[in-house]
Amino acid sequence: MPSVKTDDLILEIVDLTKSFGPIQALRGVNFDLRRGEIHALAGENGAGKSTLMNIIDGILRPDGGEIRLDGKAVSITSPAMAQRLGIGFVHQEIALCPDVTVAENIFMGATNASRSLWMDYRGLEERAADILGKLGDIDPAALVGTLSISQQQLVEIAKALTLDCRVLILDEPTAALTEREARVLFEIMRKLAAQGISIIYISHRMVEIFENCHRVTVLRDGRYITTLDVASIKPADVVKAMVGRVIDNLYPPKLAAGEDAGDVILDIRDLTERERFRDVSFALHKGEILGFAGLIGAGRSEIVKGICRLEGEVTGEVALHGRPLDLRHYADSIAQGIVYLSEDRKGDGLFLDMSIAANVSALDLDRIASGAGVIDEAAEAEQAEKLGGRLNLKYGHVGQPVSSLSGGNQQKVAIAKMLSVSPQVIFLDEPTRGVDVGAKAEIHRILRDLARSGVGIVVISSELPELIGVCDRVLVVREGRIAGEARGDDMTEDRIMYLASIGDQQGAVR
Ligand SMILES: Nc1ncnc2c1ncn2[C@@H]1O[C@H](COP(=O)(O)OP(=O)(O)OP(=O)(O)O)[C@@H](O)[C@H]1O
Ligand SMILES: [Mg+2]
Repeated sequence: MPSVKTDDLILEIVDLTKSFGPIQALRGVNFDLRRGEIHALAGENGAGKSTLMNIIDGILRPDGGEIRLDGKAVSITSPAMAQRLGIGFVHQEIALCPDVTVAENIFMGATNASRSLWMDYRGLEERAADILGKLGDIDPAALVGTLSISQQQLVEIAKALTLDCRVLILDEPTAALTEREARVLFEIMRKLAAQGISIIYISHRMVEIFENCHRVTVLRDGRYITTLDVASIKPADVVKAMVGRVIDNLYPPKLAAGEDAGDVILDIRDLTERERFRDVSFALHKGEILGFAGLIGAGRSEIVKGICRLEGEVTGEVALHGRPLDLRHYADSIAQGIVYLSEDRKGDGLFLDMSIAANVSALDLDRIASGAGVIDEAAEAEQAEKLGGRLNLKYGHVGQPVSSLSGGNQQKVAIAKMLSVSPQVIFLDEPTRGVDVGAKAEIHRILRDLARSGVGIVVISSELPELIGVCDRVLVVREGRIAGEARGDDMTEDRIMYLASIGDQQGAVR
């Protein structure tokens, strides 16, 4: 990567502080951004990254400290003002209007940011179409609500890129993207940086930081820890600055060679749903963690949602411990102990306005309720505290709404909710999306412990290193069918990508 001039500062943050009631989210944070630099911002879930970005974008007001743009102190009082100052922001949580088209969403941003009365709509349209085409073939006339999460994320990115900004903030843009989509984004980022645009890049994935960024600043518990040149450090240095200790075993041990998976827990035969998937057959064994890989749109989520009867008109057989099940609705599935963690935690994973405790126990009312439908709040709170503690959840008290948690901590609540029902089989769709490295390792360890104790575990992930690190076996889905299996030494990124895009085998995998 070309080096960046060190004296050309575009943005400086000096001693910034911010509290939410008793929670001190930022305690004297410093940060500076050079022209044409890609600067990573790292830190555990709840460290204060999004809060800092929301202040730069004028969404939140700081309690103290200073923001300087081109050496001059500024007070940014609204997102529209931030846009006029040339600051573009891709939010961690998708914030598009679902009922209007892709193009209209992009134009809304542009109209807000306009620095003059004249809008060059034709120019905008061309730029938007160009960027959308590059990012991933999205129809500008499609309604945003009909797009997948990853496509919505791409629209969010296109919206920011269409504006002509000097500072571009990307808050975990790749959490919802496939590897391929992420690579396209990185190319665009490098081009922008080469043109002199400065980028603040937030991610929990060390590989991304090390391949694309010039410097990295680390926050911990709202405090500024350090700023380092990426070229002169290793990922372990960043992790250590983030968590204050060394994490050496990122993935728990797998089933040892010769230690075979046990009896079949779940047996799926000829599962079919009209156009979406066909003749899906596989068996999930005791003790193993089974992975599902595939490109976006391949049908991974659809298949597991079909098994749990969350959607679609599904035919085929589902047997649990050799016993055929008659599942019609998701409630039947939950009653059998088969649960699904959604990839869309905001849409159908969590009740954001409700408390942490209420969310954790949402699937488990039978056990928590002390007769006559009354909820035992003490038991509910205790359970949330116990599971929250295991997952290192950062929160004030279990009665606070989930909406007040950082993105990664919301994901941890969604996982705690799954674990609360003592399930027989858990399907986890992108379980560690947005979760920091420490908590990620903890979630993987919990999954491994559950597998060892006899719970069936299936993980869908777009992050291939995660699948390869965690799973004993990976099934690759392509165009609604199982295209093949990777296991043992065969479980490499190349092999999985090959099966996902070309594939050499169709049919049952047992
Ligand atoms: N609106 C709010 N009300 C109360 N607390 C809040 C609010 N917004 C953020 N916080 C708290 O501020 C702290 C910092 O949160 P922030 O979202 O900045 O973390 P983050 O570094 O972006 O984490 P993540 O990696 O999980 O996205 C957390 O403790 C969070 O719970
Ligand atoms: Mg955040």
